[in-house]
Amino acid sequence: MYIIDGKEVSKTIKNKVKEEIMVNNYKPCLLVIMVGNNPASLVYISSKEKACNKAGIEARTIMLPENTSQKELIDVIEKANNDKTVHAILVQLPLPNHMDTKEVIDTIKPEKDVDGLTSTNQGKLVLGNASIIPCTPKGILSLFDAYNIDLTGKNAVVIGRSSLVGKPTALVMLQRNATITMAHSKTKNLKEICLNSDIIVCAVGKPKLITADMVKEGAIVIDVGINRVYDTIVGDVDYYNVSKLASRITPVPGGVGPMTIASLLENVVECYKIQKNIK
Ligand SMILES: NC(=O)c1ccc[n+]([C@@H]2O[C@H](COP(=O)([O-])OP(=O)(O)OC[C@H]3O[C@@H](n4cnc5c(N)ncnc54)[C@H](OP(=O)(O)O)[C@@H]3O)[C@@H](O)[C@H]2O)c1
Repeated sequence: MYIIDGKEVSKTIKNKVKEEIMVNNYKPCLLVIMVGNNPASLVYISSKEKACNKAGIEARTIMLPENTSQKELIDVIEKANNDKTVHAILVQLPLPNHMDTKEVIDTIKPEKDVDGLTSTNQGKLVLGNASIIPCTPKGILSLFDAYNIDLTGKNAVVIGRSSLVGKPTALVMLQRNATITMAHSKTKNLKEICLNSDIIVCAVGKPKLITADMVKEGAIVIDVGINRVYDTIVGDVDYYNVSKLASRITPVPGGVGPMTIASLLENVVECYKIQKNIK
């Protein structure tokens, strides 16, 4: 078994982004908007800010109280849409229950939609001409590239069908010519599907959902899940036992997580270049 080292690969990507910004004297700015004070979101925002600062990206954050109305949030987004000094906008999810996430996200200008979550950018992804690929799927592709994993003709299962992770991951892998099965909570024969898969991508949020008896020898396992168990962070895969069978596997932490942040930096620069008409 070989570990797919997201920490290492993400360092290389972050350095590349930093160099591109420095060499070209780019001045990209990311605006993160957060509503409420979800502790996990606060941790994510702080690591995004740190990574931006290191790469030479200005990171601004607007914190709004939990009881902000949807209209007030949309006003903030529209102001940022029209602000020429802001090139990328990220609305930290989840939003409070009184908001319609899709409606809020769709007010972000597609060329500033750094997470690729607006209907326009998701539609482009389906059509295969996306300029902004959501950060986690993009990070997973970068891992495949870094380890020379060719997806052509491989049987792959993507478990989880969220718009943030599962669906876009299946689409980008399909574009790389994998044969994709999408599984979700209503899937009946997950074990058989997994046993038939050369690649398993699990994005569910349930510790030990994928156990060794579900994985064929030599499979590649990408664990997207982030679960807090007591004081530790674990993925969705029973790492200890599955790693004995898999040919390659991402650890949690240190696998997909750091790649998501590295992809965010790449996407900020992408947004900047789109707006500045830089090819
Ligand atoms: N590493 C990273 O950078 C990163 C980034 C984003 C998210 N994450 C993590 O990835 C996980 C998924 O995130 P998300 O935003 O996609 O979550 P989500 O929106 O809650 O989606 C979870 C998906 O898992 C499916 N599911 C639930 N129970 C299942 C089961 N027993 N068997 C098969 N499928 C099942 C659900 O199916 P239904 O559609 O049928 O309900 C749903 O499609 C979370 O742990 C999250 O923290 C990690």
